[in-house]
Amino acid sequence: MKGVILAAGRGTRLYPLTKIVNKQLLQIYDKPMIYYPLSILMSAKIKEVLIITNPQDLAQFENLLGNGKNLGMNIEFRVQDKPRGIAEAFRIGESFIGKSNVCLILGDNIFHGQGFGEILLKAANLKKGGIIFTYPVLNPKEFGVVKFDKNFKVLSIEEKPKKPKSNYAITGLYFYDNKVLNYFKKIKPSKRNEYEITSINECYLKNRELSVYPLGRGMSWFDCGSQVSLIEASQYVYTLEKRQGLKISCIEEIAWRNKWINDKKMLSHIKKNKSSDYGKYLTKILNK
Ligand code: TTP
Repeated sequence: MKGVILAAGRGTRLYPLTKIVNKQLLQIYDKPMIYYPLSILMSAKIKEVLIITNPQDLAQFENLLGNGKNLGMNIEFRVQDKPRGIAEAFRIGESFIGKSNVCLILGDNIFHGQGFGEILLKAANLKKGGIIFTYPVLNPKEFGVVKFDKNFKVLSIEEKPKKPKSNYAITGLYFYDNKVLNYFKKIKPSKRNEYEITSINECYLKNRELSVYPLGRGMSWFDCGSQVSLIEASQYVYTLEKRQGLKISCIEEIAWRNKWINDKKMLSHIKKNKSSDYGKYLTKILNK
């Protein structure tokens, strides 16, 4: 299984914050936003990751994460020159994905909750078809909405429906088998001239190969596209980290716990962050 993080887009809802800074580099409490989706892929034990971003933002992402070696991973980068839709990730990422299955995550999506690691590992074991994740919301009209049966097979998907058939929003985390590359070739851009991820999901739905994982009460999901969600996500991370003394989405910690990096490499991360609480946290983890 390979991973793709989509970190392009315009971020117009966050203007002027995102006029010169990519949304996925903005702060979520103590780390850049992209650490959160990256940590999800790492928790699913996905070591090969492609980050897709805007041409003007590429150098910053490369400076931040490098080629992934420091995390015991392989990280590659490609650009999306215009926001032609989420599904375009499968054209841009085609050669990177090759013959593998793929997990796509949107760069502004944050997931957190006990037991989510196990769920991710199961999903990453996917043999056939697609898996999407849903989250109950109060305002389903603003999301892609999914209706499903008791066996978690999808019955319908609707994009921002006027009369939603359920209150289950589709989140920005998708696991697909390799057929997704062919499906991309079949879909056409929508009225707003974007390759919609809904069109890909509809291909899987037609073949009765789309499953859904409903995220329950104990899970948190943030789509950090607005000022309010940005501060809510930051407050959430701040509150949990302060109470528990454990960090959410600390990529160096996950790499170390996954045994992708050794103590020596961890020490080099500590050195680079030695003046911040982040560095002190890494020291604490290493010495435990
Ligand atoms: P959106 O929030 O739908 O779009 P945006 O990020 O451009 O923001 P705004 O609506 O404020 O202008 O995108 C969701 C995620 O998908 C986000 O992480 C950016 C990413 N994305 C791309 O990388 N390329 C695209 O073509 C689109 C549509 C989204």
